[in-house]
Amino acid sequence: MSEELTNQKADEVEQEEGVSRRAFVKVAVGGVCLAYAGAIGYPVYRYLNSPVEKAQILAAVKDVTLDKANELPKGSAMMFKFGPYPALLIHHDDDQWVALNAVCTHLGCTVQYKKETGKIQCACHGGVYDAHTGENIGGPPPKPLTKYVVKVQKGSVLVSRAS
Ligand code: FES
Repeated sequence: MSEELTNQKADEVEQEEGVSRRAFVKVAVGGVCLAYAGAIGYPVYRYLNSPVEKAQILAAVKDVTLDKANELPKGSAMMFKFGPYPALLIHHDDDQWVALNAVCTHLGCTVQYKKETGKIQCACHGGVYDAHTGENIGGPPPKPLTKYVVKVQKGSVLVSRAS
């Protein structure tokens, strides 16, 4: 009886080891596949996301037409892409339209328009910009945001690079 129990126990241990070995091999193979994917994908990502590439793409973009953006209510803002970079279109309460590059000049976080304060803020390190001019007015940002030219037209808003 006791020998039978011992054999049964040995079988169970063997089965558990088999399962854990199988699980280990699965994890190891998955890890190797992930490493290969990273080794191939990361250089591609770096190439496509390099500052030089972005600058070249940005240089080619002269303007952007934002369909139906002319319907943006006063006191609100919307994000859009100007080339590879995020940008902000703001329709102020005084009916002034402003478009600014939304990349913080400190370390490159995306800034946001805060309706409550009427300012543009960067959540990363507390940078603050004037929402009318893009001037850096608080926190660590060393330079103002790049301002674009805005032309409100029927059915859209045309945002273009200042010449
Ligand atoms: S990245 Fe915007 S304040 Fe630092």
